[in-house]
Amino acid sequence: MNKIVVITGGSMGIGKATATLFRQKGDIVLSVARQIDEEFPDFSYVADISNEEQVKNIITQIGEKYHKIDVLVNNAGIGVNGALELVPSNVFENTMHVNIEGAYLVTKFALPYMQKGAKIINISSVSGLFASPFRSLYCFSKSAIQMMTMCQRMELSKAKIDVCAVCPGEVKTGFMKRRVRIEDTNERYGKQVERAFAFLDKHDEGKRMPPEKVAKAIYKQAKRKKSKPFVIVGGSFKLIYLGVKLLPTSWVLALTNKFMGGGNID
Ligand SMILES: NC(=O)c1ccc[n+]([C@@H]2O[C@H](COP(=O)([O-])OP(=O)(O)OC[C@H]3O[C@@H](n4cnc5c(N)ncnc54)[C@H](OP(=O)(O)O)[C@@H]3O)[C@@H](O)[C@H]2O)c1
Repeated sequence: MNKIVVITGGSMGIGKATATLFRQKGDIVLSVARQIDEEFPDFSYVADISNEEQVKNIITQIGEKYHKIDVLVNNAGIGVNGALELVPSNVFENTMHVNIEGAYLVTKFALPYMQKGAKIINISSVSGLFASPFRSLYCFSKSAIQMMTMCQRMELSKAKIDVCAVCPGEVKTGFMKRRVRIEDTNERYGKQVERAFAFLDKHDEGKRMPPEKVAKAIYKQAKRKKSKPFVIVGGSFKLIYLGVKLLPTSWVLALTNKFMGGGNID
């Protein structure tokens, strides 16, 4: 039977690839984003997920029309890089509103339409599992998603609603180009910020996985009777995670900082 699948950020990138895969499998996919999906206007709901009224409004519309939500994919998110000290407060607030509050609001209003057997799949990131310098705001917004997933997995287990996090590594979408870049520095960081950005930008040109690979991982968890609490997408990141688990945290942080921290202050 066709499932009703709600995907936030289904208008591009990972969300679009996931929407396409679910549609190919015969499910009804409803995308929630700030821009309409021109290809599927009748299945596209325009809302800013950080706005409670807008979220309540569109989820109510979906609930009244389809009467249930079988799968919710909390995918919409934004990226930000920079020294935490120098990130303007409005950028901090917006990142938290979209990446954390957005997932909370959509879940909160969707749950009344979700019954036994329904699934919530939160798109986290490997940045929610490992820390990296000059990316702290994004890392801690995604680690909040990890924690929200695990708490809700327990809270909703009696209701038999399954909750899982999918943590992609580096994916080829426009996400890195769209991320907020705070390149400000001061005497504390010197050229570290510039070098950390250069590392990321160089890395950005490298081999990133296609969004379809993440879509497959999301679909696989949606179809499992019981999903895993979280899955990492991207072979090298699975290995890194193993290292993070086995090595002392001080070593992991020192090594990460050596590669990503922009070197010594000058
Ligand atoms: N790309 C990567 O390397 C990577 C790696 C790990 C995890 N992730 C995570 O995967 C998710 C999707 O990333 P992506 O690479 O597909 O990014 P993307 O190509 O930039 O797409 C982001 C999607 O989120 C929507 N969105 C952004 N802000 C929104 C808001 N306030 N309200 C409603 N929708 C909003 C965008 O649509 P509108 O602009 O139309 O609103 C868009 O559809 C994010 O949560 C990201 O953190 C990405």
